[in-house]
Formats: sequence, structure tokens, C-alpha cells
Amino acid sequence: MTTRVDEIPLARPVIGEREEQAVLEVLRSGQLSLGPRVPAFEAAFAARVGASHASAASSGTTGLHLALRAVDVEAGDEVVTSPFSFVATANAILYEGARPVFADIDPVTHNLDPAAAAAAITGRTRALLPVHIFGYPADLPGFERHGLPIVEDAAEALGARYADGGAVGGRGHPAIFGFYANKQMTTGEGGMIALGSAEQKQRIDSERNQGRAPDMGWLDHDRLGFNYRLSDIACALGLAQLERLDDMLAARARVAGWYREALAGLVEQGLMLPCDDADGAVRGWFVFVVRLPDGVDRDATVLALRELGVQSKPYLPAIHLLSYYRERFGHRPGELPVCERVAAASIALPFFPQLTEGQVARVAEALARVIAA
Ligand SMILES: Cc1ncc(COP(=O)(O)O)c(C=O)c1O
Repeated sequence: MTTRVDEIPLARPVIGEREEQAVLEVLRSGQLSLGPRVPAFEAAFAARVGASHASAASSGTTGLHLALRAVDVEAGDEVVTSPFSFVATANAILYEGARPVFADIDPVTHNLDPAAAAAAITGRTRALLPVHIFGYPADLPGFERHGLPIVEDAAEALGARYADGGAVGGRGHPAIFGFYANKQMTTGEGGMIALGSAEQKQRIDSERNQGRAPDMGWLDHDRLGFNYRLSDIACALGLAQLERLDDMLAARARVAGWYREALAGLVEQGLMLPCDDADGAVRGWFVFVVRLPDGVDRDATVLALRELGVQSKPYLPAIHLLSYYRERFGHRPGELPVCERVAAASIALPFFPQLTEGQVARVAEALARVIAA
């Protein structure tokens, strides 16, 4: 298939002079890693989400791995989580030899359903791993009542607020954020773990750096560690992005508003849009995912949109039905019906701060044509 010159991409980061300058300064400083930008970025990020501490990591995935270790998840444990997420959520559990136990999702918010999660808890459950999917905050009090450790997968949820008004990430549980280039802010690759515990930060900072002692003594590696560090170059980029985060979040919310208006006619034909904010919860806009009307072929829709110059993609597949998970754990269709129904019919549309109202109209027209056909 040929790519049209006017094709509307799925995502595009906002990078300007501010970022170029910040990165150049690091390059010229000669200290490209383990330098001052790391704690500076961590402190600025922690302040932003109202967390007592934050630890930078090389990605959201490695952040998840470190966070699960910080709540003592070990081989043989079970971690109850959402099947409707990016595969990294479940993979991180497997890294420790623990087992992801999937419970079904809420049909409206698409987040892990607290009642389904409660039913999945056993004597082996070591932690709960709710995901704030597509930036919509999960119902934390619904999980906290079990008294189990919680790790929040907030990779998609920067800028979101829980129903009580607090910023996602500031609740005291390890909450991981991701900075891949399609996220609300980017460091190219990167992640951050917001934390409420100084001991957890100490463990994470050591384990991301080969298990070195906090005083950085070369000779003492007092535990198993990894190289999950984030470079000073990436942290400088992150600091520059944080400065423009409010503008980027506002632009995303504006684009979402245009989509709601432009797609209103299709909603009458059965298209489902991301749920509205409810009960005080506020979405941190990350992607604009729509569920196609019954009977519309999802994969054919993605191809037809591409021919009309609009990128889209199936978003997200049900993790338990990915081949690796089926083969390893014997999962079968029908186990988690809400998730499977949503996953089979959902696509992400182009969504980024620079998207214009005209481009949103083009996407909506293209989708209307494809659905009508
Ligand atoms: C819900 C969720 N969890 C985890 C991750 C992993 O983050 P990263 O790609 O930075 O490793 C992502 C990233 O896309 C995500 O969307």
C-alpha cells in the first residue's frame, strides 16, 4: 500500500527549541548519565503528581518491573490485573516468575472491575495491578479495601485525577508512568515510578543501577540489580517536556472535544466513544479509542481508513488471548467476555496535540464513509 503525503499519523510528539536546548546542554556538559538531571527530573515529576518521591527508569516496562519487586512480588505469587492493557503490564509480572491473574473489565471505563478483581483474589495473591487505561483513572478505593499492596500502571494516565481530585500517582502506591513518544510527554523512551515510601525508592534506585549501594560505592553490590537507568539526556528532555505539559494536556483535551462533536452522528449509528468523566474522575487524555458499531469489521476498517489517508490501529488486544499467553497458560476465548468484546471492536484514531480541527473532521468523514460502506 502506498503512503499518502497527507496521511494523518496516529501520534506525534511536540518537540521544540526548548527540548533541543536542554539536550544540547547535557551533551556539552560531558555528563550524559548518572548526572544531576536525573534527581532534578525526579523531583520535578514527584512535585507534579503530588508524590513524596519518584524514581526514573529506562521505560514504563522496567518501571513496572522495579515497582513489583518493591512490593515484594516473588516467584509463585499471583498478581491480579487487567487483561485490557498493553502487554507490558502482564509481562512485568512474569519477569519475577509470578503469575498474572486476569479479571474482567468495566464495560464503561474499560478499567479493571473491582468486583471481578475481588473474586480473583486467592491466598497466593501478593498484589493488585490496576491500569488507568487510556488515561481514565481506575477506582482505587475499590482495590484498596483488600489491604493488599497495589502497583498502579499509570503509563497512559499522566494528567489524570482520581475521583477524590488527587492527581494520579500521588496516592502513595508505586505508580508507573511511561514516556514513549506517543505519551502525554516523552523522553524518547523512559519511565517514572511515583512513590510514597522512601524505603521503596531506595530499593528501586539501587536495583535500577545493578544493585549498587545508595552511596554508589563501586565495590558493594548488595543485591541483584539491573541496568534500568534513564540517561541525563532523556531526563533533560523530560524536564523540558514537563514545562509544557499543561499546554500539551490542554491541547489533547481540545482535540478530544472536536472528536466528540465530529463523531456525534456516528454515535447514533452505534459507534462508542471514550467514556465521559464521571463522579469527579478526570481523564488524562492519551489516545482516542472508539468501539465500532456491531457488525463492522475492525481489521477491514483499519485498512480502508489507511486508503483514505488516516492511520488507525486495533487498540488494544486482550492480553490473555495473545499467543504467548494462550500457549503458556491455556487461556481461551470466552473467559473474559467484556474485555474480549471491547478488544475485538476498538481502534485508536489519530490523536496528538498538534492535530487540527480540519484534520479531525477529515478523520470523522473517513470513518463515516468506511462504516457506511
Ligand atoms: C498501559 C501501559 N503499560 C505499560 C506500558 C509500557 O511502557 P513502555 O513502553 O515505556 O515500556 C505502556 C506503554 O505503552 C502502556 O500503555
